[in-house]
Amino acid sequence: MNKITIAIDGFSSTGKSTIAKQVANHLGYVYVDSGAMYRAVTLYAMNQGLIAEDYFDVKTLNDKLSEIKVSFKFNKGLGFAEVYLNDKNVEKTIRSLEVSRFVSKVAAISAVRKKLVAIQREIGKSKGVVMDGRDIGTVVFPDAELKIFMTASPETRAKRRYNELINRGDNVVYESVLKNVQERDYIDSNRKDSPLVKADDAIEIDNSDLSLEEQFEKVLELVRKTLEIKENKKSN
Ligand code: CDP
Ligand code: CDP
Repeated sequence: MNKITIAIDGFSSTGKSTIAKQVANHLGYVYVDSGAMYRAVTLYAMNQGLIAEDYFDVKTLNDKLSEIKVSFKFNKGLGFAEVYLNDKNVEKTIRSLEVSRFVSKVAAISAVRKKLVAIQREIGKSKGVVMDGRDIGTVVFPDAELKIFMTASPETRAKRRYNELINRGDNVVYESVLKNVQERDYIDSNRKDSPLVKADDAIEIDNSDLSLEEQFEKVLELVRKTLEIKENKKSN
């Protein structure tokens, strides 16, 4: 069976990684969380003291980019690949609100994007990949056979992210999470390089009122149709 590339983009906490993992597992495809890569570079900048509130040493970060290794290693128990920063597993650390506060500033830097997009394209070069992020359907894989753009109201998304952070034991307040979601939406949508926009050929799904099962069914239907079209093209 022909393998395809599936690009899932959208705003923060719309459920992109959840659906991307489910679809990848279902199809036996590779799942790539591109946001985790931007978070890993952000963690590096934080650890090096290059970024803080009202301070960002962009020049030094650019100079040190070649020292930053971002990679993935499949975790059998979890069923997906975890992200590593210079060979250290940072899967949990990168999900903090602290990292979320700085990540959109780091992701707006062109040299950072260039480095990470090259890795993303390398991972996806043989297709059979489901990648989620902000610019996957527009920049990383403009020829992806299936592009999905996920949306949900900011309040719904902030509530989801808040619950997630509380469940993992982080001490956060809902208002801070909502503020972060809104700030990131703004920076991500307005940056010069690869802003978050819906690709013309992406299918938009608003999942504000959809359960995880409902959204999975919806996306699977789209996957089935896309695979069918691909098979028909091949046999014609
Ligand atoms: O999980 P959540 O939606 O909160 O964010 P994420 O997917 O972990 O991405 C974190 C941040 O990385 C985003 O807010 C963007 O600033 C950046 N990002 C990006 O610029 N391009 C991507 N392809 C993926 C993430
Ligand atoms: O990757 P992204 O930031 O877009 O979102 P996620 O990490 O997949 O989902 C954020 C949270 O929202 C997770 O806890 C999901 O279980 C939850 N979610 C939900 O409750 N209902 C949906 N329809 C989608 C996501």
